[in-house]
Amino acid sequence: MPLSKIAGIGMYVPEKVVTNDDLKQFMETDDAWIQERTGIKERRFAHRTEETTTTMGVEAAKIAIERAGITPQDIDFIVFATLSPDYYFPGCGVLLQRALKMKEVGALDVRNQCSGFLYALSVADQFIRSGMYQNILVVGAEKHSMGLDFSTRGRNVSVIFGDGAGAVVLQPTTKEGQGVLSTHLHSDGGSAEILAQYNPGSHANHWMEQPVADFDEAVIGETFMSHHMIDKAQLFPFMDGPSVFKKAIVKFPEVIVEALTKNGYSPADLNMLIPHQANLRISQFVQQKLQLRDDQVFNNIMKYGNTTAASVPIALCEAWEKGLVKEGDLVCLAAFGSGFTWASALIKW
Ligand code: UT7
Repeated sequence: MPLSKIAGIGMYVPEKVVTNDDLKQFMETDDAWIQERTGIKERRFAHRTEETTTTMGVEAAKIAIERAGITPQDIDFIVFATLSPDYYFPGCGVLLQRALKMKEVGALDVRNQCSGFLYALSVADQFIRSGMYQNILVVGAEKHSMGLDFSTRGRNVSVIFGDGAGAVVLQPTTKEGQGVLSTHLHSDGGSAEILAQYNPGSHANHWMEQPVADFDEAVIGETFMSHHMIDKAQLFPFMDGPSVFKKAIVKFPEVIVEALTKNGYSPADLNMLIPHQANLRISQFVQQKLQLRDDQVFNNIMKYGNTTAASVPIALCEAWEKGLVKEGDLVCLAAFGSGFTWASALIKW
């Protein structure tokens, strides 16, 4: 059973840089608050009409495919992770297949928010191990800037997120001991509503202890998307930040140690930890808890904010481009977010 390896990696971020001070034209906030609580200095926002989650994914994918030394026609399966798809349906996978003129290969969309890329990688890894596919394109991309509440009301969420995309090509490895050693996936739906975008959706308040919208069965169209939802800002994501933070700093170290232990390693053996870029304070907590040196953890949230499903491949790509991830290195990828879902992958590069 061959392990899978990352044969090519690419990233794309939009040109437009939005600083913390730039956000002040929309909301009451300040650079010091954002930097102190999150570490973020700036983020990128996609072009309003010319860029989408898919087009950014396509740009990252082109680089990953070229670096793998293959062409889009060699890809035999696509896994695309995002929470901000171009359309409610169909997913971004087929749009990317069309844009890159690929063969009529399978395209799977993953909706696991911050851990989406790791779930996608894990699925692709199983297909490679089973021998079913030889060149799988795994993409994480987000265009958050289109769907956030930029008024003061939404500032606890909107200052955190940024746009971008990352992609990898997964292939069977030919080298003994090299590749994705294991992946670890978890969920706890007990807190599904504390980091969520409820609408539009089929829930009609079913899960809500406190309904988020007035529900009148007589007005069927109103249950999915209504003027009420627009007026009450219920088409934006909701986040109880402090509760997410408390859970994240427990689950991040747990799932990293799980991956290391499974393969007979300890944190000291790690060459590089690439945590999902949710908040610099979360990464620092994790680093402290695992007693890792600064050179064992890579962070770039300062430049890009939280790009959700794109954050792990963007960070991994930057670390690799800077020469911080080299052949033979032990690399751990880890993520935690909405769901809650969390995950890790341990890779011998
Ligand atoms: O990747 C997805 C997973 N998400 C996460 O991992 C996020 C985890 N949580 C966090 O990163 C943090 O909870 C936040 C960065 C979201 C918030 O930081 P916090 O230290 O937990 O602040 P808070 O929500 O407790 O708010 C503290 C104060 C409040 O004011 P009062 O009530 O104390 O007067 C907020 O209204 O900060 C205020 N505030 C802001 N002030 C300036 C909230 N957002 C802002 C803002 N600018 N953008």
